[in-house]
Amino acid sequence: MEWNARIEALRNVGLEVLDIVKRKDVKELWDASDNLDSACEACHRSYWYPGETPAFYTRLDRRLRDRVGSSSPAARPASRAK
Ligand code: HEC
Repeated sequence: MEWNARIEALRNVGLEVLDIVKRKDVKELWDASDNLDSACEACHRSYWYPGETPAFYTRLDRRLRDRVGSSSPAARPASRAK
């Protein structure tokens, strides 16, 4: 079941982080924190806000652009270089 796999992933990275903390390895902790964040976020995407797919954000972008029009800075990123 996907839920159990997600839990397992969080548990594994959690144990890894605990070990790193004990060794006080800042560089490794920095990298592992990315993995920890991914373990949280992957589960949230499946079970907390499953509707937030890439397609959802594409539609949201389009709706925002329709509403704000071409004056939106995000709609004309090239002009920001000036
Ligand atoms: C196995 C799945 C899973 C994992 C892994 C997971 N979460 Fe969640 N999390 C959920 C679900 C599902 C909800 C939504 C609960 C609800 O709807 O009330 C949630 C909700 C939350 C909330 C909101 C709580 C609130 O009061 O509304 C926070 C904050 C959160 N998670 C943080 C984290 C962090 C930080 C991690 C990693 C360290 C993590 N979660 C890992 C499943 C997970």
